[in-house]
Amino acid sequence: MDRNEFRRVAGHFASGVTVVTARHEGADYGITLSAMSSLSLDPPMALICVNRSVPSHDAIKNSGVFVAHVLGRHQKRLAGQFSRPSADKFAGVDCTRSDAGPLVIARTLAHFVCRVAHTVPAGTHTVFLSDVVSANATAGLEPLVYYRGGFGRLAAEPEVAAPKAYLPPEHEDDLVAAGVVPAAFRLGSFYLS
Ligand SMILES: Cc1cc2nc3c(=O)[nH]c(=O)nc-3n(C[C@H](O)[C@H](O)[C@H](O)COP(=O)(O)O)c2cc1C
Repeated sequence: MDRNEFRRVAGHFASGVTVVTARHEGADYGITLSAMSSLSLDPPMALICVNRSVPSHDAIKNSGVFVAHVLGRHQKRLAGQFSRPSADKFAGVDCTRSDAGPLVIARTLAHFVCRVAHTVPAGTHTVFLSDVVSANATAGLEPLVYYRGGFGRLAAEPEVAAPKAYLPPEHEDDLVAAGVVPAAFRLGSFYLS
């Protein structure tokens, strides 16, 4: 398959945006990643996929510890800052130091402190399968969304157009009562703006 076509098609999968921080031999690293996922509840695990050619890769691999931050809509500038090589990635970024070592960025939606359990090389990347040591979330902030190469946001639709078109209202009530369709779905799905 052609790589540019794969990139184009893969971009249709909307994701959140994370910045992953690491510390190795006294230096701090940070990288913007969309390839982050929760993996297992018991034990709590998450995974990230990192290109082997970037400096953050070796910092994560050699230290075995990272903090994955979920960015808010207000942090689009940070997503750009951590996606470019720079001598001081953290210039102007409000941070505190975690007990585990890596910096924790202020005012993100959530962050996960992770310890690498397994590394899997795959193509140009390494998949870091990791134990989640601790996690924190802040309520009331909107997520930053990445879709088809651009940043967007989630917003509630003003009307329920699509479900009404194919789901008769009486069936909709049955499905909500049975827990098949979450009640929130009736208030509107989400769109990018
Ligand atoms: C929205 C977005 C998502 C990205 N996702 C990933 C990813 O999942 N994995 C990856 O290796 N690089 C990803 N990148 C590219 C890295 O952020 C970029 O290579 C960065 O410069 C690496 O930092 P470093 O060179 O300081 O290690 C992404 C970039 C952007 C803008």
